[in-house]
Amino acid sequence: MSTPKAANIQPPNGKLGVMVVGMGAVATTLIAGVEAVRKGLAKPIGSLTQMGTIRLGKRTDNRTPLIKDFAPLASLDDIVFTGWEIFPDNMYEAAAHAQVLDSDHLKSIRPFLEEIRPMPAVFDRHYVKRLNGTHVKQGKSKCDLAQQLIADIQSFKSKVERVVVIWTGSTEIFLEPSAVHQSVAAFEKGLVDNDPNIAPSQIYAYAALKEGVPFANGAPNLTVDLPCMIELSKLTGAPICGKDFKTGQTFIKTVLAPAFKSRMLGVAGWYSTNILGNRDGEVLDDPESFKTKEESKLGVLDFILQPELYPDLYKDIYHKVRINYYPPRGDNKEGWDNIDIFGWLGYPMQIKVDFLCRDSILAAPLALDLVLFLDLAQRTPELKHLGIQEWLSFYFKSPQTAPGLYPEHDLFIQSMKLKNTLRHIRGEELITHLGLEYYD
Ligand SMILES: NC(=O)c1ccc[n+]([C@@H]2O[C@H](COP(=O)([O-])OP(=O)(O)OC[C@H]3O[C@@H](n4cnc5c(N)ncnc54)[C@H](O)[C@@H]3O)[C@@H](O)[C@H]2O)c1
Repeated sequence: MSTPKAANIQPPNGKLGVMVVGMGAVATTLIAGVEAVRKGLAKPIGSLTQMGTIRLGKRTDNRTPLIKDFAPLASLDDIVFTGWEIFPDNMYEAAAHAQVLDSDHLKSIRPFLEEIRPMPAVFDRHYVKRLNGTHVKQGKSKCDLAQQLIADIQSFKSKVERVVVIWTGSTEIFLEPSAVHQSVAAFEKGLVDNDPNIAPSQIYAYAALKEGVPFANGAPNLTVDLPCMIELSKLTGAPICGKDFKTGQTFIKTVLAPAFKSRMLGVAGWYSTNILGNRDGEVLDDPESFKTKEESKLGVLDFILQPELYPDLYKDIYHKVRINYYPPRGDNKEGWDNIDIFGWLGYPMQIKVDFLCRDSILAAPLALDLVLFLDLAQRTPELKHLGIQEWLSFYFKSPQTAPGLYPEHDLFIQSMKLKNTLRHIRGEELITHLGLEYYD
């Protein structure tokens, strides 16, 4: 087989500016964590870009470089953080409030965290009912607010080599695509007209893409998964991806469901419930925000199990997802799953999963990987021109794909897709796991 041609990837020279929208639990755990790793105080556990290797060539070749060297990715030392938040707290105060990292960890990097103060946010309570922030921009119209965000991005751009924006803000109310989202021209008119179908997260995404800056969406909001954003992303060469970090229960679900399907075991029901007590839990206590999250969590099983192909196994599956706000647990979420499966001749069995996880400890490394991979995409012409970065599906509950294309939810297919994309852009053979060559 001939060796594929490597892409013309620009080297990751200079500083990478990361602009974080919503500087709560996930964002502060990301920022504090990157600094702790830089100072040698902790290891970047859970981050594929920092700890993962990639096999190249045959199993007998012994070529397994670190992904961060192979790709090539920006170094953690070159990352500079800023962002927007509706509360004025600096990152030390915000991290202390979030109560994810213990005070010893925070104290050792306190001066660094205190230096990072959020810029005023674009916010409207209509879209996140349970929050009431004071640190917000004032503007005559949504267009005016978008211009203010563009000015923030331009100012940060002048201090660093490249910029990436990531949404780690709260979950907004459930919205569906409407006329205003069908083209960039319609969206820009909607900004001027203050169209209520335009949520704050969309204004941030618009500002970033307009500036040619990549945008990742870590929440389940309708943000970049819109025709106008896809159009703008291609127009300005700004890669996009989303949505909703795949961290706890859905991460486990997308491991277990493919296992049942691969063995042709049936699933009669899957009941998932969670308790969590952080600000995210408080926001999701509002039915309108919960609906956005519910849609994102529910889609997974249908796509993996394909009931239309396997009616005897999955046609009548009862799938329920609940999230309950329970303040005593803080960020330490507990997720229970009761799975009713059936086997040979239809005999029933049960599986119980009780995942005592830490939400932001699971999410922070995903956010880090996403900003580094989006930065790689913006330096790689072959990826940049695609707009949607489907190869980053690995990180999301609702992966964004080309319109009309169903998403891959199986974690191991997603992992293979990600690694094969890296091999592809570096001119290495893709790995199919066929393996006949070992027996020639
Ligand atoms: N932690 C996880 O495991 C996980 C997994 C998947 C998705 N998410 C999503 O990631 C997001 C962040 O989660 P979190 O636990 O950090 O929540 P959080 O409530 O601690 O942080 C979100 C922050 O966003 C701010 N915010 C809201 N609207 C804003 C706006 N328009 N502009 C700027 N700031 C805004 C809030 O004030 C808050 O501080 C949530 O939407 C959550 O659903 C989290």
